[in-house]
Amino acid sequence: MGTPMMELENLTKQYPHKDASGKNTYKTAVDKLTFSVGKGEAFGLLGPNGAGKTTTIRMLTLLMEPTSGTIRYDGQDARAHAQDIKRLIGVVPQHVNFDQDLTVGENMELHARLHHMGRREREARIHELLHYVELEDVKNDGVRRLSGGMKRRLLIMRALIHHPRVLFLDEPTVALDPQVRRRIWELIRTMKEQGVTVFLTTHYIEEAEALCDRVAMLSQGHLVDLDSPAHFKEKTGLPTLEDVFLKLTGKKVSS
Ligand SMILES: Nc1ncnc2c1ncn2[C@@H]1O[C@H](COP(=O)(O)OP(=O)(O)OP(=O)(O)O)[C@@H](O)[C@H]1O
Ligand SMILES: [Mg+2]
Repeated sequence: MGTPMMELENLTKQYPHKDASGKNTYKTAVDKLTFSVGKGEAFGLLGPNGAGKTTTIRMLTLLMEPTSGTIRYDGQDARAHAQDIKRLIGVVPQHVNFDQDLTVGENMELHARLHHMGRREREARIHELLHYVELEDVKNDGVRRLSGGMKRRLLIMRALIHHPRVLFLDEPTVALDPQVRRRIWELIRTMKEQGVTVFLTTHYIEEAEALCDRVAMLSQGHLVDLDSPAHFKEKTGLPTLEDVFLKLTGKKVSS
């Protein structure tokens, strides 16, 4: 794994919840997650719907306070260094959250300004990123006119605007056709080649296998096991990660 970029210790999230009788209680969505992610590693969180993937990402990206546990980036406590960490990370959320009334270019511009980038730097970077994913021609179109695949590509480019060293992607290729999925995989591989630490969630086994150095299997908020895809198969003697997940959790990862 090398030097850790990110360390989670007993990371836990409990949401308020009403039980069947209407009594106020809580539900543990993420339960004492402890693991580290290496610098430059591509790390996958694999689990079915409701496993706690988005909740974990929201805590790691400082969008949500954990109920308990700690997060460290580069050895430093995340809460104490929140501003530094926000500069370090880029986030591709599970659901598209553009300003629908703005154009492609304006959405990028807005994000660049939030990162306090100067005008020249913004223009050059937006040009570079849109060019890279062949979205330059639609720069002046409203985002609502983009196809699903174009929106996904734009969402990733937006997250890269400030040259993050850690890129979070929450189910980056959900509902995309195989061709667009492959392009996004290429993009993620390129980021990794450039030394970016990649943390992605998925419930596509083949995505975890194709992209990740190591995979954490998550079931109902629990870390079931963590290993490289090759080791998972070796130690269980099973051919695919889907079989491994089923064996370890008794559940299928994708419904
Ligand atoms: N804001 C919230 N309030 C209450 N419960 C929540 C909230 N967000 C998530 N949960 C619950 O926490 C659990 C984990 O949800 P989470 O969204 O983290 O899962 P996920 O693995 O990302 O699922 P999916 O694959 O469907 O995106 C689920 O049982 C969910 O219902
Ligand atoms: Mg989710």
